[in-house]
Amino acid sequence: MEYMKPDNQILVIFGASGDLTRRKLLPSLFEVFERDMLPEHFVILGVARTSFSDEEYRREQKENLKKFLKGELPEQAKLDQFLERVQYLTLNTDQWEEYHLLAERIAAIRKKEDIGDRILFYLAIPPRNYELVSAALGKCGLNTPVETGGWRRIIVEKPFGHDLTTARLLNRHLVSIFREDDIYRIDHFLGKETVQNILVLRFANQIFESLWNRNYIDSVEIYALETLGVENRGKYYEGAGAFRDMVQNHLMQLMGFVAMEALPAFDAELMRDEVAKVFRSLHPLTADDVVRGQYVAGEIGGQVLPAYREEKGVAADSTTETYVAMRFYIDNWRWGGVPFYFYTGKRMGMSKSEINIHFKNVPHHLFSGMCSCSSCNQLVLKVDAPESISLRFGLKVPGSFFEVKQVSMDFAYGSLCNTYIATAYERLLLDAMQGDSTLYIRTDALELSWRFIEPILQQWRENPQEGLVYYPAGSEGPEERKRLLQRPAEECTL
Ligand code: BG6
Repeated sequence: MEYMKPDNQILVIFGASGDLTRRKLLPSLFEVFERDMLPEHFVILGVARTSFSDEEYRREQKENLKKFLKGELPEQAKLDQFLERVQYLTLNTDQWEEYHLLAERIAAIRKKEDIGDRILFYLAIPPRNYELVSAALGKCGLNTPVETGGWRRIIVEKPFGHDLTTARLLNRHLVSIFREDDIYRIDHFLGKETVQNILVLRFANQIFESLWNRNYIDSVEIYALETLGVENRGKYYEGAGAFRDMVQNHLMQLMGFVAMEALPAFDAELMRDEVAKVFRSLHPLTADDVVRGQYVAGEIGGQVLPAYREEKGVAADSTTETYVAMRFYIDNWRWGGVPFYFYTGKRMGMSKSEINIHFKNVPHHLFSGMCSCSSCNQLVLKVDAPESISLRFGLKVPGSFFEVKQVSMDFAYGSLCNTYIATAYERLLLDAMQGDSTLYIRTDALELSWRFIEPILQQWRENPQEGLVYYPAGSEGPEERKRLLQRPAEECTL
């Protein structure tokens, strides 16, 4: 399909002097600019409290782009051309009275450029300010278009709420200012190429989808392990933990794509309906289904690393989990009885972001060397770079009598020559500019996902220390995770 550029518009980024803007948003916007995918007339208006002139801000962001762009450094002229589209407004976003400055700046941009009445707001700010900033936009009338064909959209970063109650309140607040269709709740995992490919792999290929159910699938594992620690985000992470930071959003969304039913047509609402249906079918979680851990001092690649409790911004007696392993079930005809596992953690011995589909074993073992309890057949979708898909199956060991060995047929995305793999933010920013919310999260799915994990959060709130186990930085996680794999003995026999 031929690419159609989005309509001319202004992108207003709140939090323009922050980490997300410099590491992800501006580099992603530069990439799409370089590939000539931005609208003809397009202004990025950065808004934050730090005082900069347009020129100072551009200078600062030029250095950041050099640091955070992937691949070869672009030509200076290209960077300058991009930065010409970037403006900055110093605004104390806490102060309602100052928002007239934003309205005036937008009016001035529109007077100068043929941009139309289209504004996309991006809240790259601490979540405690979401309500305040959106309310201020409403108060100064920036939430509704004034011209026919105009629109307002708002992208809201995660974490969206702190629990079910706060997520509901935030939703209610936002829909009182913007239309539901104009609220884009971002989960950057959905922008990852391999994640979207789950849908194509499943629904464009008869060979996988026919086997994609409880009759043939033994279990599903979803991993998001990182060697990284909490970096300079200790303060945020203390209030979040791995459950809120990764499980409630990224891992749940991946699971939704793996588990949902086929769509009658490729349409945003139909797809979000299917994800919500999966979330509605989740079997309630109990404390026995979840292992939570926290890293203590350890070593990765010879480097000695401190314990989580020694990180900056973290309490010396913190009970925040940096690791979660969990097992759960989906109560429907496709998945009844198939265990799903999530594994996510910081400061692990290896980084691994993948989905692992384990198929059932053959009903009778004829050959020696065959995989015993779980089968030789596995489909591995690697979500992080270098992205790949591997299909594993048993084959005869050459020269042997009839001994079976697991082999792997691998497809690496990198082998698609000349194919540029866009980052998640590139894809999602363009989608929001185009008004396509397929890869954004709808209110119902968001609330259902909070509802699923809420009983566990509640227990941890009441007993902060209970069940918390420890693992050394650089390890595979707490040993207790293995408990989740235990299955009734009859399931393991053929
Ligand atoms: C973010 C989490 O949403 O996702 C981080 O807040 C995590 O803690 C990150 O490190 C992982 O994303 P990616 O794309 O680097 O795998």
